[in-house]
Order: sequence, then C-alpha cells, then structure tokens
Amino acid sequence: MAGDLDIVRSVAELRARVKYWRDQGLSVAFVPTMGALHEGHLTLVRRGLELADRAVASVFVNPTQFGPNEDLSSYPRREARDAELLEGAGCGLLFAPTVAEMYPDDFSTTVTVAGVSAGLCGDIRPGHFAGVATVVAKLLLQCLPDVALFGEKDYQQLAVIRRLARDLDIPVAIEGVATVREADGLAMSSRNAYLSAEERAVAPAIHRVLLAVAGGLRAGDAASKLCAKAVADLLAAGFKSVDYVEVRDADTLAPLEWFDRPARVLVAARLGGARLIDNVAV
Ligand code: PAF
Repeated sequence: MAGDLDIVRSVAELRARVKYWRDQGLSVAFVPTMGALHEGHLTLVRRGLELADRAVASVFVNPTQFGPNEDLSSYPRREARDAELLEGAGCGLLFAPTVAEMYPDDFSTTVTVAGVSAGLCGDIRPGHFAGVATVVAKLLLQCLPDVALFGEKDYQQLAVIRRLARDLDIPVAIEGVATVREADGLAMSSRNAYLSAEERAVAPAIHRVLLAVAGGLRAGDAASKLCAKAVADLLAAGFKSVDYVEVRDADTLAPLEWFDRPARVLVAARLGGARLIDNVAV
C-alpha cells in the first residue's frame, strides 16, 4: 500500500473509508498518535500491517491531556512530514481532525479510569490520563479497527487504555509494542526534539539507571534502595529533577518492593525543557 496515503479530517470520512475496506473483507489496524512521528510510531504502523490488511493512523495533538503549564502550544506539529513517513511505512489513511471536530463546543463527557491512572504520571500530571482515556475512547469508537497499537514507552498509558477498552467493551484488540531506542539506549520520543546537544548527551542516563535497577532487583535487592540510588544517579548525570523512579507490578501497576513477579521499572525525569519518561521490564 506504500505510496497511497489519503488524509481525512472528519469522523464521517474516517468511518466511510474504514467501511469501504471492511466491505471488501479487509481488516484494519489503527495507530493513534499526536504526530511529530519517529521510528517508534512507524514500527507501530509496520506491526499493524502484520496484524491487519490496512493501517490507519491519527495525528491529533489532544488538548485535554495537557495541563495548564505543559507544552500544548509548543508541541511539535509537522503534518506534511508525518504524512510522508506514514505513506512510506505503508499506512493507507491518516485521520487528522481539528479540535472542533473532536470537541464541539457542547462536548461534556470525560472518561476516567480508576486504579491504573493513579500514581506515577497520574500524580504529577493531574487530569492527564482522563484526557488520554477520553480521546482514545473516542478514536477507537470513531475508527472501530480490529486492532489498535500503542508503544510500551508510555507504559502507564498502555495500562489505562487496556483497562478502558476492556471495561467499556470496546471491540478492539489493544496491542502493546516494545519501545524503539536510539543506539545509545534513549527511548525515541517526540519530546526528544526539545533537548539541546548537551542535554541529548546526558539523556541516555535514564535508560542506564533503569537497567541498573532491573539488574539489582534480579539480584535480590530492595526496590526502595535501588530507586533512591537511581534518583541520585540521574541528578548527578545532569537531570534537573526526577519525578519518580518506581518498581511496579507489570499488570496492575501496584507498587513492589521485591522482585517476586513480572515487574516494570518506570522513570520520569526532567532534563532542560523536556520531561522524559521510560521503563523496562524485569
Ligand atoms: O501517546 C500518544 O501519542 C497520545 O497520548 C495518544 C495515545 C495518541 C492520545 O492522544
């Protein structure tokens, strides 16, 4: 399908195009994004095309998931380049709605997911996961794909989305895809664009401390001790502040002190003007 990307901006056009494919017996994969695409997003599209016949992506910088002092106005917007990259990856349709299409003036529904939205980024970014859950619920219902793909880099977001799809009986399989990293270990992220050359050289420390915590857990050390050292190491490396380094149950996201079940080490830290998040499996 490479070389054949259509762009639509209304829900009606999105639905008509997906119906056209469905009427031909074709299955559909969906990759919701906020644009400023990188290899991580394109990996989601390629994986989608392994799981389904056609791929749809959305690019929508969702205002409701940004806090009042966050980077909504400066978030990188590069639709023409995004469209080229999507086309090259074989994506057949880009849904790029306006804010008015997604949130008409009288819009009054919010989806909140209790439990997995609490703690970690949920505490630092109040309202963020309600914004994510609301827009993702809308996007899934607008597109109604067979499968929707999300990166594991946003691990808590993935847990929120899995839970909302299950709880609201949205008939879409949710597929998590492993984080794509630069050669030095830094997780690919649209927000890496905020880093100066100097900060970019410091940034891979975030992955190194995650691996150190994971290694320590496997060796039988306590999470609290390992996480305290990881915070100190990030600050020593040049990070401005650390929102959290925590070890959580990989499924429920409940806090863990010892490695006695599948776990995830998660970190959020600030470097220059960027807030970076990352996580690894244990
Ligand atoms: O991960 C993102 O890019 C966004 O949070 C998402 C899932 C597209 C919702 O706006």
